[in-house]
Order: sequence, then C-alpha cells, then structure tokens
Amino acid sequence: MKPIITPLVLTALMSLAIPALSADSTYREQIKPIFDVRCSACHGEEAPEYKVFKQEKEKWLALGIGPRMDSYTYLVYFTGWPDTGALMRRLDDAKPGNMYQHLGDNELQRQQNLALFKAWVGNWTLKRFDALSKEELAGIKVAY
Ligand code: HEC
Repeated sequence: MKPIITPLVLTALMSLAIPALSADSTYREQIKPIFDVRCSACHGEEAPEYKVFKQEKEKWLALGIGPRMDSYTYLVYFTGWPDTGALMRRLDDAKPGNMYQHLGDNELQRQQNLALFKAWVGNWTLKRFDALSKEELAGIKVAY
C-alpha cells in the first residue's frame, strides 16, 4: 500500500502553510514591532499630520521626516483611504517603492517583513482611490 502523504504532497502542503500562517498578520502582533524599529524614526510622534506635511513639505523633507504613521489609525490612512495604496506603492519591491529599503538590514529580512505587510494589508493594490472598485477596497483587511 502506498503511503498517504508522499514527499510531493508534503511539499505542496508546506508551501500552502506559509501563506496561511502569514495570513494571520495583525497590526499589534506583526506590524507594530516592525514599524517601531524600521519606520518610527521618521514617521513617529515628532512627525506631522499628513496634511501638515503636505503644506510644508520642503521643511519636513529637509529634516528627513515623513508624515506621522505611528498608530494603527494613522497607518491605515495610507492603505485604504484617503491616501489609498500609498503604503503599498512605497513598500513594493518593484519600482518606485522608496521605503522598501527600510524594511530590513538585508534582502532576506526585507522580503520577510514585506510578506508580513502584504499579509496584513490583504489586497496589495498599488491603485489610487479613483481607480479602485468597492470590492478591491473591501479586500484591504488591515486587522488590528
Ligand atoms: C530615514 C527616514 C525614513 C524611514 C526610516 C522611513 N521613511 Fe517613509 N518617508 C520618509 C520621508 C522623508 C517621506 C516623504 C518623502 C517621500 O515621499 O519619499 C516618506 C514617505 C513615506 C510614505 C508616503 C507617504 C505619502 O506621502 O503618501 C510611506 C507610505 C512611508 N514613507 C512608509 C514608510 C514605512 C512603512 C517605513 C518603514 C518600513 C518607512 N516609511 C521608513 C522617511 C522615512
């Protein structure tokens, strides 16, 4: 009689298990710890509200500081609405993604942390609000 789980089936099951595990990514468990180490120096409590950042952009850029994102509520602003897809566009490993470099000290760490952000966001769309359907918006999960 043949074994029920062949190595091939096992490999397939394991590759299924990885996205299934990371699909549990929540703000409190996975994202905040990364954010605190990797992002808060420039997006923390010293950083301005997004609207203030936009009004005085040159001033903040000269200081190397971006808009404030250091809470669940702040960060979600850059996923679904109103700054739709901003987090995804900046972290994506394809162009432009200029915040991707901050995700880790090496490529492996950057890829691992990107996977956690992707699992957290759900529908990893690079689209802006006007191009997004209601279903695509609802696909942005951002669990607390
Ligand atoms: C060394 C400072 C620095 C670090 C660290 C940093 N950022 Fe930024 N970030 C900036 C600055 C400055 C801007 C604004 C300039 C720009 O748009 O590129 C910015 C812009 C952004 C934007 C775009 C906001 C908008 O205008 O829509 C997002 C999203 C973002 N950062 C996310 C992150 C995330 C997530 C991390 C951590 C993985 C991170 N950043 C780490 C400095 C930083």
